[in-house]
Amino acid sequence: IVLGPYLSVLVEATSLSIIGGNNSLSSFPRNFLFGTGSSSYQFEGAYLTDGKGLSNWDLFSHKPGNIADGSNGDIAVDHYHLYLKDVELMEYIGINTYRFSISWARILPKGRFGDVNIAGIRHYDKLINALIGKGIQPFVSLNHYDIPQELEDRYGGWLSPQIKKDFAYYASICFKHYGDRVKYWVTFNEPNVVAIRGYRSGIYPPARCSTSFGNCSSGDSEREPFIAAHNMILCHSAAVKLYRAKYQDKQKGNIGIAINAVWYEPFSNSTEDKLAAQRAQSFYMNWFLDPIIFGKYPEEMKSILGSLLPEFGYNHLKNGLDFIGINHYTSFYAKDCLQSTCVQGPGISKTEGYYLRTPVKNDILIGESTSVDWLYVYPQGIEKMVTYLKKRYNNTPMFITENGFGMMNQPDSSISCFLNDNKRVDYMKSYLDALMSAIRKGADVRGYIAWSLLDNFEWLSGYTIRFGLYHVDFTTLKRTPKLSAEWYKRFILNFTSFE
Ligand code: NOJ
Repeated sequence: IVLGPYLSVLVEATSLSIIGGNNSLSSFPRNFLFGTGSSSYQFEGAYLTDGKGLSNWDLFSHKPGNIADGSNGDIAVDHYHLYLKDVELMEYIGINTYRFSISWARILPKGRFGDVNIAGIRHYDKLINALIGKGIQPFVSLNHYDIPQELEDRYGGWLSPQIKKDFAYYASICFKHYGDRVKYWVTFNEPNVVAIRGYRSGIYPPARCSTSFGNCSSGDSEREPFIAAHNMILCHSAAVKLYRAKYQDKQKGNIGIAINAVWYEPFSNSTEDKLAAQRAQSFYMNWFLDPIIFGKYPEEMKSILGSLLPEFGYNHLKNGLDFIGINHYTSFYAKDCLQSTCVQGPGISKTEGYYLRTPVKNDILIGESTSVDWLYVYPQGIEKMVTYLKKRYNNTPMFITENGFGMMNQPDSSISCFLNDNKRVDYMKSYLDALMSAIRKGADVRGYIAWSLLDNFEWLSGYTIRFGLYHVDFTTLKRTPKLSAEWYKRFILNFTSFE
């Protein structure tokens, strides 16, 4: 994930060597959830079917030049029609949870300004029932990047406080219709990525940024990410308040948020670099978690951003989640650029006197890079991340809501090189091993959800990066299990549990 360039640090990435996991010794807590993940825009397709409204991603992906291979999610992997088959694939692997998102524009094509789309409601009813029928817990995100375009057009989406009314209304419909069967709710998937990419670098919809930050026609990269983020936090809180007031007692579910969580390793042992790594965590992850859990933004953000950071009202909710969802894939180095000067070069962007550096190959550092430019294999990162969150948030229950390995889709590569995905297996083994070690030391982690069940639409990269445990032929839509699907199946079957 390429991050926004406002962190006051230099960030570099490499990986440490893979520490091999020893499967046969795997032990996770009893009732631990093992799953696979997906999202509506990346999987469903059927973008105009059965009354669905247009989303911001429908519009964005249709603009020439926005997506690497010129593709879009119009059909994606047609999960909308093939969901029953896909539930069978899940059953084959033996997972006990499936993470997916509801398409807001399928339920409310015009937001609160139009009718509820009954066909949309029915679709997720059928999916949820099929999952429950196989003993698979639905783990449901209300928002995974895509919002009804209507809300952009009417009032500018996340930039307007009006969106709180829309989000609360949408959430109430989902709780009411599905809450009897859904016990895990995620309000937002990666709001930190939405804020940065939508409003700082402008590479995601609504593609807003200042010209000095990116290639946008309008926007204010210094201010808008923090406004959008603030409104997302208020939307999260509104949904949680509603759930707790009206539904939770009866439905007995849990509600949380999933944050993109990169581990930032200090570049050196110097105090400056350690502080830089801490700053990086605060500007990236605690930006959302602190306000939701402690009721205020991290001090590092306040002191650097001053009045650019919006304020919360006196009645802002604290302890506003039941669990922290962690989307963790990779680790970067963080280097101080406040006290010392950071050298600029390729991949380094500058703002506010701070620097952020995206991965650069052949740097001196640790470990293995993959063919995906932001993905560095560093299994210890997941252990450090979970341990960090355990300490900062008093061991709030955690789920790994995403972790996975992507491979570039070379046009000339044969299907067999994707099916023999040893590297993905090594990645999963080593990350699960490191996760287990954190759990053994007392971290309250309750589940692990692999990204992803199927190869799918990887946002700006279109269909050029494959994350699936199942290979998808994007022409015929045929699904074929990769080695990793078979490996995950065996892993789930064989792990031993402890109390
Ligand atoms: C996180 C996002 O939530 C997901 O949609 C994406 O496909 C993966 N990262 C891989 O980039």
